[in-house]
Amino acid sequence: MLFVCLGNICRSPAAEGLFLHRLELRGLSDAFVVDSAGTGSWHVGKRADARMIRAAEARGVVLPSRARQITAADLQTFDLILTMDPSNLENVRKLVPAEAISARIEPMTAYCRRYRTDAVPDPYYGGADGFNDVLDLLEDACDGLLDALLERRGNG
Ligand code: 4NP
Repeated sequence: MLFVCLGNICRSPAAEGLFLHRLELRGLSDAFVVDSAGTGSWHVGKRADARMIRAAEARGVVLPSRARQITAADLQTFDLILTMDPSNLENVRKLVPAEAISARIEPMTAYCRRYRTDAVPDPYYGGADGFNDVLDLLEDACDGLLDALLERRGNG
């Protein structure tokens, strides 16, 4: 699966790291290919925002990502693309004609069980609390996502 936000330095690297952490805890590290990308290109090659790295580290979660921009090929290579907000979703869909998309594209928040929202808020221009809020929301979504994927796989 590919997690996608705008810059690929805050929300999608956090989702990627949290999901990888959960896979590791459950002995499932080899079960999925996990990556993240941004719809924008400003931060290509950079590690996640230092504020997000610190907030994740405080929860024992490492963020391994280097920013990259999503490509048309990603829409064929990945089975599942998880977007962080409605604008990301629209931008991903606009990359190529619908016939060239084989991936399932879904809002990450569709997998939340404790939160009810259609967007993971962009913490980039806000204060430190924003990063922790995003991690809380993404933890909920990652738990829901992993359970849903395991259930789908179990059902054939
Ligand atoms: P992200 O946050 O999409 O969660 O990585 C952003 C980071 C940087 C910018 C926008 C969003 N930016 O405009 O530089």
